[in-house]
Amino acid sequence: MGPRDGMRGTGGDSPVLLLDEVHKLYNPGPLQVHVLKGISLAVEQGDFVAITGSSGGGKSTMLNILGCLDTPSSGRYLIGGTDVSELGDNELVGNVGRIGVFAGAEVRPAD
Ligand SMILES: Nc1ncnc2c1ncn2[C@@H]1O[C@H](COP(=O)(O)OP(=O)(O)O)[C@@H](O)[C@H]1O
Ligand SMILES: [Mg+2]
Repeated sequence: MGPRDGMRGTGGDSPVLLLDEVHKLYNPGPLQVHVLKGISLAVEQGDFVAITGSSGGGKSTMLNILGCLDTPSSGRYLIGGTDVSELGDNELVGNVGRIGVFAGAEVRPAD
């Protein structure tokens, strides 16, 4: 199965998007910030998902990974069953266009 088959809902049983125990650390070293601490999430075809949380909680960090703009420090991110770490630049850029669309719409007014 190719990286986009799951996105088209072609009957594969892999989730469209799958985060598996994803960690993200910025600035490895003394100034390290451990933002994502073992995030797992499966998004199936037709799911509508909202990611909510306090400012600084890691929402943009997670969306950057989902949109292939950044990579996990550890753990796996699969699109249609394919680990993004196995994708080349051209395939990654294609996913930026497909998934990054909603990554710009994450901010809503505070209550
Ligand atoms: N490039 C970066 N380098 C270092 N720290 C960062 C970077 N980007 C975000 N952070 C830190 O990671 C945490 C999560 O930020 P972010 O993902 O933007 O949260 P949210 O979108 O939920 O407000 C914050 O503490 C933020 O300061
Ligand atoms: Mg944000």
